[in-house]
Parts: sequence; structure tokens; C-alpha cells
Amino acid sequence: MTAPAHARTSGDLIRAEEPVLAHNYHPLPVVVARAEGTWVEDVEGRRYLDMLAGYSALNFGHRHPVLIEAAHRQLDRLTLTSRAFHNDRLAEFAERLAALTGLDMVLPMNTGAEAVESGIKVARKWAYDVKGVPADQATIVVAAENFHGRTTTIVSFSTDESARAGFGPFTPGFRIVPYNDLAALEAAVDETTAAVLIEPIQGEAGVLIPDEGYLAGVRELTRRKGCLFIADEIQSGLGRTGRTLAVEHEDVVPDVLLLGKALGGGIVPVSAVVARREVLGVLHPGEHGSTFGGNPLAAAVGTAVVELLETGEFQRRAAELGLVLRGGLAELVGKGVTGFRARGLWAGVDVDPAIGTGREISERLMREGILVKDTHGSTIRLAPPLTITAGELRSALGVLEKVLGEGN
Ligand SMILES: Cc1ncc(COP(=O)(O)O)c(C=O)c1O
Repeated sequence: MTAPAHARTSGDLIRAEEPVLAHNYHPLPVVVARAEGTWVEDVEGRRYLDMLAGYSALNFGHRHPVLIEAAHRQLDRLTLTSRAFHNDRLAEFAERLAALTGLDMVLPMNTGAEAVESGIKVARKWAYDVKGVPADQATIVVAAENFHGRTTTIVSFSTDESARAGFGPFTPGFRIVPYNDLAALEAAVDETTAAVLIEPIQGEAGVLIPDEGYLAGVRELTRRKGCLFIADEIQSGLGRTGRTLAVEHEDVVPDVLLLGKALGGGIVPVSAVVARREVLGVLHPGEHGSTFGGNPLAAAVGTAVVELLETGEFQRRAAELGLVLRGGLAELVGKGVTGFRARGLWAGVDVDPAIGTGREISERLMREGILVKDTHGSTIRLAPPLTITAGELRSALGVLEKVLGEGN
């Protein structure tokens, strides 16, 4: 008989997963049982500082009291209606999210990949209905090294072989250009182009920040050529970079914004396509939908998230503490760090491969009570909850220095 979960050790639980759980992840060997704020605790009661924050789904930390309260209140009233009926929470969520982002209309979905898929569909429909692209000829231009999710259409335009191999045939209609290269983008966009879809900062690729002027250049180019600019801010958005949106660093408003992760407050999956009325207005009843998209629980939590962001407090914290992060990482360059890219409370840190792979460094940090995740090769990604204190951040940097100093 299986022992009750509370009586099983981390080792027991990891071994129990092996035969019953698909092996599509390679988690660090830590089994989290509870969490609060920036801290998580494993089944043996060891505490860790969470420097990953659910890939930015936990921007407000674990179980932020305002968000938990909003979820509890809604759980006691109404959780799901489907969009067959109206619910009394959705209008406020859409109004406030549109106002927060400076756009007009909201299409609520659940996961990030669904928001991306929905954005692609909306852009194609716009190309046929508004731009006049001949049927089935629409193209979407994307950037190399992108990460937009895992559906068959989305991996169709990935340049990461491990995300694609074995999953063909792929969806046509995408053109891939180098990131951060306006000339290549200019050459790829033509009269068939519905949209340019990019991440304002490429997270999975290692927190790659484009040159100053790139996002404004994409905005100018898409406007001039008559196609849409879709910004995937699923990871970069909602306070992470020190602004509500990463595109704000260049005063850019895209035509279509894709949001997810932190929009659900780390409680429920909530994503959205937010766009100008001329764009999202192309959808009519029956053309797109989701059973769970816009459900009242998601809308209640999403509204509470928007309310937190309306205060500006989290954006400010990310900007101010981002300076601490940047300063601390700068001191580690040459001491095990070969380079880093940082904006707000988000950094990709390249570790000297002689010291270890990103995975090995992540495991060493875990043993010292810090949870991070590697991306490619020897790069680790730091993205703590925006609720982290300066002291916690400094202590995490101190542990990183110690681990790197121990060498290989
Ligand atoms: C930029 C970006 N887009 C889309 C996604 C996909 O989101 P989800 O995993 O919720 O489908 C991610 C997830 O990491 C992401 O970082």
C-alpha cells in the first residue's frame, strides 16, 4: 500500500513519480510542500528562497494575501459558468486589464500557449478581413530562438530542435528572422504579412535584451508596412522588468499584447489577448473560444492582480531592486560569471562552463537553499518574486558567489 503523502520523504515522492508521470521535465530534486511569499518549504521542512517564481507566474510571491483573499471570496460564490452565460466578474476584469495596458479589448484564455495561438488566429483573421490578404496566404514573422509555448503550431516556428523533433508535420505560414535585426525583419515582411510576433525580451533564450531602439523600430516598421505588432509579454510582462510591460521601456504600444503567467497570481491559469478594437473586433460568435477562458474565479483573481499592478508598487520594487541585482551580478563577472543580462528583477547569468553546467550550478544552489533554473548550457535564470527584499536578494547573490567560488 502507498504511504500517505505526508509520511513520505522527498526521495520516496521522487521515486513514486518515475513510473507514473510523463518524463517531459527534469525537475531539480526538491519536493515542495508549502510556500509563502518568497520562500518555499520541502516535505522535510527545509526552506528555500524561490529565485525562479514559477517562470514569472509568481511575480507577487507565493499566496499573496490579497490574491488568496480574492480567490477564497470567489470560491464561496461562483467558480465556473462557461461563456454560454455571462458572469458578474468578467466585465470588470476586461475593463481594468484594458485600461492597465492602454488597449481596448480583451480575449480571456487560460494558458500562455493558448494566448499565443489565439493571437495567431486573430492576426490571420485580421489579415483576411481587414488587410485583404488572399485566403490562406497570411504569413507571420517571428524571431529565431523564440519561446512562445508548446502546441504543434507554436513549435512549428521554434528554432529549438528539442522542442520540434518528432512532432511534425508542422503548421506553415511562418517566417523566421534573427532577433534584434531590423534589416532582416524589413526584408521578411511583405504584403502577405499579418503580423510580427516577438518577445520584447527573450526569456527562455537566456533573458536576451534587444538593442535600444529595436522595439520602437519594430513598431515603426509594422505600422509603415501595414501589419500587426504582437508582443508576447507572457514572461516579460506584469511588473517583472520594472514597468508594467517590457515594451514600455521604449514607449511602444503594440497592436496585440499576449499576457499569461502572473495574470493568474500563481493561483489559477489566466491568460489574455489584449488588443485594439479594430483587431480583436474581427472575432464573431463561434469563431473562437474556451470552456474555461474568462471563468469567474480566473476573472476575480485576474482583477486582483490588475489591482495590485495599478498601485505601481511592484513595478517600482522591480526597478529599484533590479539595481541591486545588476550591481551584485556585475561584481561576480570574472569570478565565475562570464556575462549577464538584466532588466528589473530578471537576469540571465552566464556561468563559466569550467565551473559547471547551468544544471550543476542550479543543483549546488539548491543544496544551499536557493532555487533557480538553468536555461541553455551554462546560463541560469534569476527571476525572484517582486516581493523579495533587498536583504534576501543580497543573501541570494552571496550564496551564488560562494557556489561559484567553490569551482568545479
Ligand atoms: C514568452 C512566453 N510565451 C508563451 C509561453 C507559454 O506559456 P504556457 O507555459 O503558460 O503555455 C511562455 C512560457 O514560458 C513564455 O515564456
